[in-house]
Amino acid sequence: MGRFDGCVALVTGAASGIGGATALALAREGARVAAVDVREPAPEQREALLAASPKSAFHELDVREEDAVAATVRQTVAAAGRLDVVVNAAGVAGGGPVHLLDGAEWDRVLDVNLKGTFLVCKHALAPMMEQRGGRIVNVASVEGLEATDGSSVYAASKAGVVLLTRNLAVDYGRLGIRANCVCPGLIDTPMTRMLFQGELVEPGRRFVAQHQLGREGRPEEVAAAILFLASEESSFVTGHALAVDGGFTAGHRMGVLEMLGLGGAGR
Ligand SMILES: NC(=O)c1ccc[n+]([C@@H]2O[C@H](COP(=O)([O-])OP(=O)(O)OC[C@H]3O[C@@H](n4cnc5c(N)ncnc54)[C@H](O)[C@@H]3O)[C@@H](O)[C@H]2O)c1
Repeated sequence: MGRFDGCVALVTGAASGIGGATALALAREGARVAAVDVREPAPEQREALLAASPKSAFHELDVREEDAVAATVRQTVAAAGRLDVVVNAAGVAGGGPVHLLDGAEWDRVLDVNLKGTFLVCKHALAPMMEQRGGRIVNVASVEGLEATDGSSVYAASKAGVVLLTRNLAVDYGRLGIRANCVCPGLIDTPMTRMLFQGELVEPGRRFVAQHQLGREGRPEEVAAAILFLASEESSFVTGHALAVDGGFTAGHRMGVLEMLGLGGAGR
């Protein structure tokens, strides 16, 4: 028995990283997954998904394209009869200090991270409202909760996702639809591996050091939190932004323990 037996889930950004781990975890727990991404998954990822849940499928979809989003939701519901869970994990990195940021970069990041999330939610809500139930989990970021240097448009996009999620919880809660988001810290995925190159190596090391567990997270650790929010285990949780961040947002280290000779572990 899986927690998602009989459930139909749509996962965006499913060819990679957090979305990929989430699609697989849902499939392993019994869901029929419509896994969508703007690009093809690796063959082994497709095979793993289908091995876990033979009625699942990958579809090519750009979440910025409203007609295509609407068609994918319609096809999913037509094929599977319902839509229980939506996970918005499609996203892009980007940013820079505001005085150096051009408008095209602003639009690129907002279009995928915020508008794409909005469009998928918008079209997924129709079947969920008809069913009078559903669970939406959006992938925001710790950078949607607090500022980090140079984050600008990425932070703005993720803060938008947090408030969009809370608004969904307010507007659709009476219809039995829950909406929550996860706010991951630094997670080891293709997106962040690119950040650890060249001159970004040192800022990347400092970023990791600010996670109180002293390491990056794994996509599977974020997927586990997403599955909790998408499952009946969280039946009274809506409008929540769950930090999955190894303590990044818990507080700051000033070096007092080290000064006392207690080291990083406080012993
Ligand atoms: N990795 C981290 O440290 C981290 C931290 C906080 C939040 N996030 C967020 O988690 C989500 C997943 O990121 P990831 O780290 O797994 O990155 P990733 O690059 O491994 O995966 C993102 C996926 O989104 C897809 N995508 C991009 N644009 C798309 C579009 N227009 N339509 C459909 N799919 C599109 C990409 O093809 C890719 O497969 C993103 O929203 C990201 O902002 C990541």
